[in-house]
Amino acid sequence: MINMPKGTKDVLPQDSYKWQYVEKKAREVAKVFGALEIRTPTFEHTEVFLRGVGETTDIVNKEMYTFNDKGGRSITLKPEGTAGVVRSFVENGLANSALPAKLFYITQCFRYERPQAGRLREFHQFGVEFLGAKNADMDAEVILLAKSFIESVGIDKVSLYLNSIGCKDCRKTYQDALKEYLNAKHDKLCPLCQERLNKNPLRVLDCKNDDCKEITANAPKILDFICEDCSNHFEKVKELLTLAGVEYKINPNIVRGLDYYTRTVFEFVSENIGAQGTVCGGGRYDGLVAQLGGNDMPGIGFAVGIERILMLLENTKKQIENPNKIKVYFAPMGEEEGKKAFELASRLRQNGISADFDHMGRGIKSQFKYADKIGAAFVGVIGSDELTNGVVKMKDMAGGTETAVKFEEIIEFLK
Ligand code: HAM
Repeated sequence: MINMPKGTKDVLPQDSYKWQYVEKKAREVAKVFGALEIRTPTFEHTEVFLRGVGETTDIVNKEMYTFNDKGGRSITLKPEGTAGVVRSFVENGLANSALPAKLFYITQCFRYERPQAGRLREFHQFGVEFLGAKNADMDAEVILLAKSFIESVGIDKVSLYLNSIGCKDCRKTYQDALKEYLNAKHDKLCPLCQERLNKNPLRVLDCKNDDCKEITANAPKILDFICEDCSNHFEKVKELLTLAGVEYKINPNIVRGLDYYTRTVFEFVSENIGAQGTVCGGGRYDGLVAQLGGNDMPGIGFAVGIERILMLLENTKKQIENPNKIKVYFAPMGEEEGKKAFELASRLRQNGISADFDHMGRGIKSQFKYADKIGAAFVGVIGSDELTNGVVKMKDMAGGTETAVKFEEIIEFLK
């Protein structure tokens, strides 16, 4: 037997309806916000992520699945959705059509991380990227979209954390102040943060190491450093969220693990799934389009981890209805009856009603067992009496009642 690679998961037939449920909700919510689907390749030229996600990030440094293809090009399986979408937006000249461009995607992503509950090497994201609008109402709208999705799948006890990391100018002033503060405590930082200190000091702020956390608790706060424009933008985002009745908490330590962010950053965190509680992360990225070769153009988006959503649904024991169950399973008692079962099932299927019948030559008892296993709503018994009288004995599997239904009235009965 060959096992699946570490950090991957099969979605088995008995569970796939849960994925379909979450994906359907994502599409519904995207639609009401006017977002259209974009599908980009599973792999990109590595450069897209080096330039997009950033060379100092953990994702680029440690987690990418990168290889040379047979033509000697460096290729990377997408570790996230944003950079590829922005690459496509630029390459296909989408900036020339209606702006803002409101895009969404459901995609698999690949990161070479240490697998644990809620952290996989192949995982899936529902994400949106809204490009072209710089106003704060776009930030509020994107946050509302994420919240609507999370609520629509039936998840509660999720908190929204908000921060602004300023623009590239005011961030520079902050970075200098932070560096100075952290340099004085250099020896007490974990080895990784000692490295981060020079390359990307902001990343020290979301280190999970206890010593680092203690140090950063008293570090200078970015919100005290952002410029007037960034500050006004952030105030407006907060005002609009309050107007929409959205509760949030300011967390100055949210810096996010990707380099493209500017101004608003946010996360939705659940209290119900422990260490990997962040179900959604996002923010504004006003420099990314230009960084990937396009015009100077603002953008903002988020991505939700679908596996984490499913984990939460599991933990909170939320019942999801399985719409894929067969409506009627015909149980014929002989060869002639089998032909009738074949004919009736075909007619129902042509009319969009799911139907099945015995393919294994089983006895009636085993047929009922099978029907029960696949969750058929009705079992239609056809014996010689039924065949003579032109009826099927329809057993309602939930209620237990039996009704003799004429062959020509089955569609009506099942509708
Ligand atoms: P991210 O925070 O790296 O952001 O990922 C977004 C979400 O994907 C996380 O909150 C988490 O739910 C899920 N996720 C991340 N890594 C894993 C993993 N190894 N296993 C399972 N789930 C995971 C981004 O990817 C940005 N592109 C979001 C964005 C879009 N920002 C702007 N636009």
